[in-house]
Formats: sequence, C-alpha cells, structure tokens
Amino acid sequence: MKKKIVVAITGASGAIYAKLLLDKLQQLSSQVQEVGVVMSNNAKEVWRVELDSEDYNNYPFKFYSKTDFNAPFASGSARFDTMVIVPCSMGTLGRIAGGISDDLISRAADVILKERRRLILVARDTPLNLIHIRNMETVTLAGGIICPAVPSFYSKPQTIEEVAMTVVNRVIDLIGLENESYRWSEQ
Ligand SMILES: Cc1cc2nc3c(=O)[nH]c(=O)nc-3n(C[C@H](O)[C@H](O)[C@H](O)COP(=O)(O)O)c2cc1C
Repeated sequence: MKKKIVVAITGASGAIYAKLLLDKLQQLSSQVQEVGVVMSNNAKEVWRVELDSEDYNNYPFKFYSKTDFNAPFASGSARFDTMVIVPCSMGTLGRIAGGISDDLISRAADVILKERRRLILVARDTPLNLIHIRNMETVTLAGGIICPAVPSFYSKPQTIEEVAMTVVNRVIDLIGLENESYRWSEQ
C-alpha cells in the first residue's frame, strides 16, 4: 500500500531535516501516494535563516496554508497514514499536547492521534524544561512518537547533510518506507 503522508514544518532550528526529508520522499515516490506539506510562519523564517533560500517553493508536493482547514488531512476521513512534524518546535509540541487545534498543524496532529495513526515529532530544543518533557510524555501516551532531532555518529558522517541524514533515515524507517541506509552491524 502506498503511503499518504503529511509533513508539517515548524519554527524550530533544523530546517535541513525538513529539506532532506522532502528530498528523500521525492526519491521514494514509488512508495508514496501523496505528500501534503504545511509550514508555520516561523518555519519559513528559519528555512531562510539556516538554508539561505526559499527553495521549499520548488517541491512537487501540494502545500497548504497553516489556516486552511479545508485541507484533506484536517479530517480523519481523508485517511492519511502518517504525519511527520520536522523539525517540531516546543510551541507546536505544547499545542498538540494541550489539544489546541487552532491551526492546520495542530489540528492534523490531533486527527492522526484520534484515528490511531502514526504521528512522528522530530522535536528540537535544548535544554528541555519540565513543561517540554511532560508534553512529550502526554503525546507519547496518546500514541505519538517523539523522535528527537538528535543525530548519531557511529556511521562516521562527513558532512552536515550526512549528520542530518542520520535523523532523517530514522524518520523514514518510522514512516515504514523501504530505504537503503547505514544499519548497525550490517556493514
Ligand atoms: C532562528 C530560530 C530558531 C528557533 N529555534 C527553535 C528551536 O530549536 N526550538 C523551539 O522550540 N523553538 C525555536 N524557535 C522559536 C519558535 O520558532 C517559536 O517558538 C514559534 O512560535 C514556534 O511556533 P511554530 O511551531 O508554529 O513554528 C526558533 C526561532 C527562530 C527564529
């Protein structure tokens, strides 16, 4: 079964993770039926600051405004399989944990959880306060997956992209897509 995936990009540091995930979803298009993308205002700002570009406009996926509650994934009936929030700010995490569905990102996450589908939050901030940790606990208990933007180094990545891909490859695995990547003890 091909996947229907929502990618939400929020205003935490790490726009590179979003960019690499969108690139990878393009490469894996034979396994993907549909990708819907929604960005917060600060996501666009962080992308500009960190990647010196606005090339999120160039992807072939359908982009939805953060205020567009007519987007298909604002309702469970559209049957999206998976939502990835990458990177996920502490603000968005808090809105999801609090059930505050006041924009398309928090509403779509709410829908994915109530439909018992897969929600992956690539949460990013450091250090964490108790509110962040409790919000992560709440989302985890509700069925979401906290996949922190924490790279690994055992594959000996040589570039910033390779470092960031150690996180994105884990996200691809969590979505359930077949992907060639470094696997511990298989090399
Ligand atoms: C350059 C930049 C980097 C930021 N990095 C983070 C971060 O790593 N984690 C975080 O929770 N918020 C970060 N913020 C703050 C969020 O963008 C802000 O709290 C925003 O309101 C979150 O809302 P959003 O999730 O709708 O984007 C950053 C803001 C800027 C401008």
